[in-house]
Amino acid sequence: MDKPPEHQLAAPIDEEKAPSLRKRHLLRCCTCAAASLFFVAILAIALAFTVFRVRGPVFLLNGSTANLDLIPGTRLPRPGSNATIRADVSVRNRNYASFRYGSSASAVYYRGAAIGEARAPAGNMAARRTARMNVTVVIVMDRVLAQPGFGSDVEAGRATMSWRARIGGRMKFWFIKKHVTMKMNCTATVDVVKMEVAEYKCKPKIKLFR
Ligand SMILES: *[C@@H]1O[C@H](CO)[C@@H](O)[C@H](O)[C@H]1NC(C)=O
Ligand SMILES: *[C@@H]1O[C@H](CO)[C@@H](O)[C@H](O)[C@H]1NC(C)=O
Ligand SMILES: *[C@@H]1O[C@H](CO)[C@@H](O)[C@H](O)[C@H]1NC(C)=O
Ligand SMILES: *[C@@H]1O[C@H](CO)[C@@H](O)[C@H](O)[C@H]1NC(C)=O
Repeated sequence: MDKPPEHQLAAPIDEEKAPSLRKRHLLRCCTCAAASLFFVAILAIALAFTVFRVRGPVFLLNGSTANLDLIPGTRLPRPGSNATIRADVSVRNRNYASFRYGSSASAVYYRGAAIGEARAPAGNMAARRTARMNVTVVIVMDRVLAQPGFGSDVEAGRATMSWRARIGGRMKFWFIKKHVTMKMNCTATVDVVKMEVAEYKCKPKIKLFR
């Protein structure tokens, strides 16, 4: 007499349990999906700070040419003339993201005085690749000659100029695109005798935007 009621009792309980079990199952699925999403988000952030860690490019001077307007028969620049120095620079992109950047024009300083302008063209660097770039520096010779220290630099054979470039661009890693600003402190040391760039250095600093 005890068993039938038990069975009768068990049946309605089972019927009641079934939907709640389904609900629990659904809940577990949702939790599982949320956990997966969370995991993916963590992974993306981890990637952003490791693989997608932004590092500045490395600049290497390959060669240079100088174009001076000299007084015939002398090594003196013609008054009012400009000199153009073109530096052939290779730029290595160390990032796993490609970098598309705009052109730049920056004032060039020599012994604290603005003497000209450095220009770099816009371009696109593939991820983990090296690109070539022509950096052109136009120098107003009169302003260089007006510097009292120029004579001693000529005697020493070397003159150093510097500029600060600010380049805007975009980095792309898979579908992730980020706007970046690259600030650089560049110096170029000119061998005054050979009229070529002896040393070219750029220290970049990259800032990412969301
Ligand atoms: C430097 O430039 C010359 C000629 O422009 C080229 O033959 C040479 O491969 C370049 N070297 C590097 C390291 O880029
Ligand atoms: C030299 O450069 C300056 C500044 O870029 C420019 O104003 C001037 O016209 C140039 N002079 C010559 C002779 O090209
Ligand atoms: C740099 O300039 C030289 C000479 O004007 C040219 O042959 C070369 O293609 C230029 N390189 C780039 C990357 O623009
Ligand atoms: C460039 O130089 C200035 C002053 O000398 C300094 O404040 C700045 O941090 C430097 N920037 C880079 C990218 O090295």
